[in-house]
Amino acid sequence: MPSNVIVGLQWGDEGKGKITDLLSKNSDYVIRYQGGNNSGHSVHIKERRFILHLIPSGVIYSHVKCLIGPGVVVDPKFFIKEIKNLELIKVNTSNIFLSKRAHITMPYHRLLDRYKEKILGNQSIGTTHRGIGPTYEDKIARMGIRLLDFLNLENFYKKLKYNINLKNELFTKVYKMKPLEFKSIYEEYVEYAKIISNRIIDVVYEIHKAFHNKKKILFEGAQAMLLDINYGTYPYVTTSSTSTGGACIGAGIPPNFLENFIGVAKAYCTRVGHGPFPTEIKNDIGDIIREKGNEYGATTKRPRRCGWLDLTALKYSCMINGINCLIITKLDVLSELKLIKVCVGYKYNGKVIKYFPANIEKEIQSVYIDFPGWRKNISHIRKYEYLPINCKNYIKFIENYLNLEILLISVGSERNHNIIKNKHLFSKIFS
Ligand code: GDP
Ligand code: IMO
Ligand code: MG
Repeated sequence: MPSNVIVGLQWGDEGKGKITDLLSKNSDYVIRYQGGNNSGHSVHIKERRFILHLIPSGVIYSHVKCLIGPGVVVDPKFFIKEIKNLELIKVNTSNIFLSKRAHITMPYHRLLDRYKEKILGNQSIGTTHRGIGPTYEDKIARMGIRLLDFLNLENFYKKLKYNINLKNELFTKVYKMKPLEFKSIYEEYVEYAKIISNRIIDVVYEIHKAFHNKKKILFEGAQAMLLDINYGTYPYVTTSSTSTGGACIGAGIPPNFLENFIGVAKAYCTRVGHGPFPTEIKNDIGDIIREKGNEYGATTKRPRRCGWLDLTALKYSCMINGINCLIITKLDVLSELKLIKVCVGYKYNGKVIKYFPANIEKEIQSVYIDFPGWRKNISHIRKYEYLPINCKNYIKFIENYLNLEILLISVGSERNHNIIKNKHLFSKIFS
C-alpha cells in the first residue's frame, strides 16, 4: 500500500491539520517527520477546535498510530503537556510513539532562541521562540542529545554535562547572563525521561514493518515550502526540510514509498514572522482577510501578515515537491471582496520574471492579474458546479497556471466544509 505525504506550499498555516485529520480516518499511521512544536495544526475534536503542536493530527482517531519521526525535534516538557491536554478531553494517547533518533529541545535551546532574536533586533527572523533553530544547530554540530539518551541516564548525564558546560561559556561570556545550573535541569529532565521512556521506540523499523504489512501511512509535513531551510526565503526560514523529500530524510524511508504528494495552499497568502512577502497587502483589504480568515498564529497568537495568492511562488513549491494532488483552502475567506488579485510574476531589476528568485528581496514588485469577486457566501456549498461563476473562474485560472487539477477545495474550518472536485482521485486516496 503506497504512502501519502501532505505538505504546506506557502509560508505555513495553510490548513494542513484539517486535511491530515480528514485523511487520517482511513489511515493506519500518521507520522511527523520534521520541525517541532513550532507548528500549530488546528483540528476539530468532539466539535471543539484543538491545536496540535508536536503530536500528529491523526491522534483524534483511536485506531491511528501516531509516530514522531527521527527528523523531528522534541521538547519533552511540552510533549507531556500536550499529552495531558489531550487526555483531559478523553482522547486516546496510548498510540503515540517517539523516535529514539529524534533530538531533544532543552531549556538552553529556548533561551538561545530568545537571546539571538533579541540581539538581531530589527533583523530578527521572528521565530516562535520554541528553541527549534538552536536544537537543529546542535544536531548538525554533532553535540545534540537524542531521545535515545533518555533510555540510558548515565549517557544522558554525561551529554548534558558537556552541553551545559559549553553553553555556560556562551551565556556568561557572550550574553553576560547567569550560568545555567546543571543539577536542577538534570533532575527535571530525568523525570520527563521516566514519563516518556515507554513511548521511545525505533520508529524507522516500525514504519518499514508497517509499509511491508500494507498499512496506510500518511506523512504530515509541518511549516511549508517557502520556510524550507534550502528552498525558502533564506534566512527568514525555519531550520528543517519541509518538502515531500524531507519525509524521506526525516522518517527514514526511500522515495519510492510515496505515491501521492498532497500540497495544501490557501486561496491567498499569509506569513507570520519576518521576511520577504511580495504580495503582502498593507491596507484595509489585508485587515479584512485577517479578520475573516481568523489569521492569528495558532502557536504564537501573532497576527498573520496577509496577501494575495502568489502563483509564481506556488508553482515553484509544486515543482520542488512534485505535487500531484492540490488542495486549496480558505476560499470562503475571499467571498466579501470586490476585486481579487493574483500574482503571476515579479518586476525585478527592471525586468518581468516568471520564476521565484533565490535572492528574493523586499523591494521586488508583484505583477498581478485582477479577478472580479463573487460576493456570495460559499461556506455551505458542497458541489463544485454550485460555486458562483467568478469563483470557478478563479479556480480554473489557478489550475491552468499550475497545470494541475485541484483535488479538493476547503470552504470552512470544519471537517465537512469541503468541495471534492476530483471525486475519482479523492476516493482513491481517501478510502
Ligand atoms: P496548519 O498549520 O497548516 O495546520 O494551519 P493552522 O491550523 O495553523 O491554520 C489554519 C486555520 O484556518 C485554522 O484556524 C483552521 O481551522 C482554519 N481553516 C482551515 N481550512 C479553512 C477553510 O477552508 N476556511 C476557513 N475559513 N478556515 C479554515
Ligand atoms: P505550521 O506547521 C507558520 C515561522 C516563524 C518564523 C520562522 C522561523 O503551523 O504551518 P522557527 O521557530 O521555526 O525557528 O521560526 O518560521 N514558522 C511558522 N509559520 N506556520 C508554522 O507552522 C511555522 N513554524 C515556524 O514564524 O517566521
Ligand atoms: Mg499552523
